[in-house]
Amino acid sequence: MCGIVAYIGHREAYPVVIKGLKRLEYRGYDSTGVALLNGGNLKVYKKKGKVAELEDYITGKDLKSHIAIGHTRWATHGEPSDRNAHPQMSGDGKLAMVHNGIIENYTQLKKELLSKGHQFTSDTDTEVLIHFIQEIKSSNQCSTEEALRIALKRVVGAYVILIVDEDNPDTLIAARKGSPLVIGVGKGEHFLASDASPIIEYTKEVVYVNDYEIAILKADELILKNISNEIQTPYIQKLDMELAAIEKGGYDHFMLKEVFEQPQTIFDSLRGRLDAKAGKLTLGGLREHMDMLKDANRIIIVACGTSWHAGLVAEYMIEELCRIPVEVEYASEFRYRNPVVGKGDVIIAVSQSGETADTLVAMESAKEKGAIILGVCNVVGSSIARLSNGGVYTHAGPEIGVASTKAFTAQLAVLCLIGLKIAEAKGSITGQRFQHLLDELEGVPDKVAIALKLNDQTKAIAAKYKDARDFLYLGRGYNFPIALEGALKLKEISYIHAEGYPAAEMKHGPIALVDENLPVVFVATKDRYYDKVVSNIQEIKARKGKVIAVITEGDQIISGMADDVIIVPESDELVAPIISVIPLQLLAYHIGVLKGLDVDKPRNLAKSVTVE
Ligand code: G6P
Repeated sequence: MCGIVAYIGHREAYPVVIKGLKRLEYRGYDSTGVALLNGGNLKVYKKKGKVAELEDYITGKDLKSHIAIGHTRWATHGEPSDRNAHPQMSGDGKLAMVHNGIIENYTQLKKELLSKGHQFTSDTDTEVLIHFIQEIKSSNQCSTEEALRIALKRVVGAYVILIVDEDNPDTLIAARKGSPLVIGVGKGEHFLASDASPIIEYTKEVVYVNDYEIAILKADELILKNISNEIQTPYIQKLDMELAAIEKGGYDHFMLKEVFEQPQTIFDSLRGRLDAKAGKLTLGGLREHMDMLKDANRIIIVACGTSWHAGLVAEYMIEELCRIPVEVEYASEFRYRNPVVGKGDVIIAVSQSGETADTLVAMESAKEKGAIILGVCNVVGSSIARLSNGGVYTHAGPEIGVASTKAFTAQLAVLCLIGLKIAEAKGSITGQRFQHLLDELEGVPDKVAIALKLNDQTKAIAAKYKDARDFLYLGRGYNFPIALEGALKLKEISYIHAEGYPAAEMKHGPIALVDENLPVVFVATKDRYYDKVVSNIQEIKARKGKVIAVITEGDQIISGMADDVIIVPESDELVAPIISVIPLQLLAYHIGVLKGLDVDKPRNLAKSVTVE
């Protein structure tokens, strides 16, 4: 979703901002723009399309400036177009602003401004806001900073905004509520961005700006204030991230790199927590909540997209291990149906980015109702992590491909650790089963490495089925959410319609779709449902459907029935999803590539969805 970048300091600002925008391309966007102060004059360049198109458009212009702001826009108010792209300017042409988020009461503000004679050139809420700030500035005869503060008190919604002001050429102003903003602190320079990826190559010292804070930046000065104009002390943190983590490292796509990183990232998610030899599990972020967790009436998992699928797997895990009822909720639905939540309920918010607006809002409402909130997040210091009372980071490293892969398997590993830890504290698991599952989890990274060796085979299967119009994905038990995730991956990357279903439920509808043109992917590893899944495969074959099956090594039965099989190592059914999802990620990837699509940045999708 929208990305913002800015620079102020001794370097040429334009190249820093353009490079930063390229680093943020993974978030998903449809137009882009920059504003800079060249020879004291405010210049704005913006374009529908990719950052490279903006660069072509600007070629040959005098871009010298030591201050610049830039934006990648994912359209909300108004179609993707040059005029709706950011930066947006004030009516007097002196202020330029980029904005990430949504101003919910912009219609009302616009009405007021129109009645005062303002004219607008775009359909955006952003243009309304910068006009509003300018209006306050001129009617109150105050500084831009003061006008911004007054304006934000009227604004309803979520935002990160950055402003450059022609009359204050050595100052950048930023404000945040509900959308992420990181400031990189260099020597005589500052960098601002939606996440750390545009900053990491210049400095590792960063400040995460909090909600309702305003930052006033000069090259060598950072002043942080709250909305009541009180000075705040910036908390400078060290980024624990290397540049290599956000580059492709020889792979054709980030997605493929991230799929192949999984043996390491799953290992990283378990590191320092799981000690199978000693039979020990340590989760520091849950320690003080363990009593409440083991006595919980109910665990409610809130999440979106792929993270929601991880939540579904966790439902099976936690109910089985801990005998605590678990509900898995789409964050967007949970919030608005006035759910019954109270003391004794524990919410677990699962999110890669830690910035998903729907998940954040769901957490806030559950918190108000007295529930305790735990976070399972990948991005350290993210909004969801900060709103949580405790939790566990997934430590999968930055995920750039829009379709989530390594973050998902790290979520599964961490949720499994959480289930085991609660079960241990509650005494709902035998010592033998506990130890067995610790051993199984420890073995997962190696088994994932074996599953990745099937890359070429999966590519050949992808070539065979890439022209199918629809796909059906089926699984039961722990593999049912993996069928959903496989279908989602295919949709996201290849734009082929795909549905995931519980294998048995297929008889109640989707079976009507089955004919010789429908590939049906079965996630059919050996588990307690195996015989039933074999029957489901027979039902598909009887109707001439094409069966692609992910099976356990040594399985002769399904090998003899399916059109194509992908064989993964044997494992306990509780950890099997972490392995069986690997070939489904590869299948979606190869079909997307074979269709010539941009798998890292699929159309219309955003990596981090910061609007509700
Ligand atoms: C977007 C992304 C998905 C992701 C979902 C939830 O839709 O494209 O890959 O699963 O948001 O994101 P989160 O960061 O909360 O896991």
